[in-house]
Amino acid sequence: MNIVLIGFMGTGKSAVGHALANMTRARFLDTDAEIEREAGKHVAEIFADKGEEAFRNSESMLLQRLTHDKGSLVLSTGGGTPLRAENVRLLKKIGPIVWLTAPPQTILGRVRRNLAQRPLLASHKDDPLVRVQHLLAERTPRYAAVADYEFDTSNFANSDAVAACILTMLKSPVVTR
Ligand code: S3P
Repeated sequence: MNIVLIGFMGTGKSAVGHALANMTRARFLDTDAEIEREAGKHVAEIFADKGEEAFRNSESMLLQRLTHDKGSLVLSTGGGTPLRAENVRLLKKIGPIVWLTAPPQTILGRVRRNLAQRPLLASHKDDPLVRVQHLLAERTPRYAAVADYEFDTSNFANSDAVAACILTMLKSPVVTR
């Protein structure tokens, strides 16, 4: 079974994706990590050197390739991946979309130590919480519209516990819409 994780930065997509892949013996792929590996640069450097649009194009090209992938895959996406309609079409082809959520303060607590590596937050070092709240308000309707399932990761001690709950949820017919 394939699983696609979407959601804002710091909601746990990579850690939970790893745990889900281990539990289901699927391949794990993180779009940011894969783009970085292929470019030989960090996401922040790609944004700085080539601009956000070029990074977004790399995301779309990667997703396009992944739709032809055989075998089970747990895919962790970047926070902005579902903003492009083309990407949503591709994600839906890959598998059920699970939207991970967390409150803004929790998100900031998780991403605060590496703000410099997060191009959409790095320029708002003085008030990153306001920036997180602003981006979340902008993006939440989008995440909600594309997700098949929603899961709040904020009350869990570790990613294994989140992954176990998600697997149970995926076996149930309950959906967010
Ligand atoms: C972004 C989130 C990041 C990364 C890039 C842009 C966004 O991924 O793709 O910095 O637009 O929210 P994570 O959500 O994995 O941190």
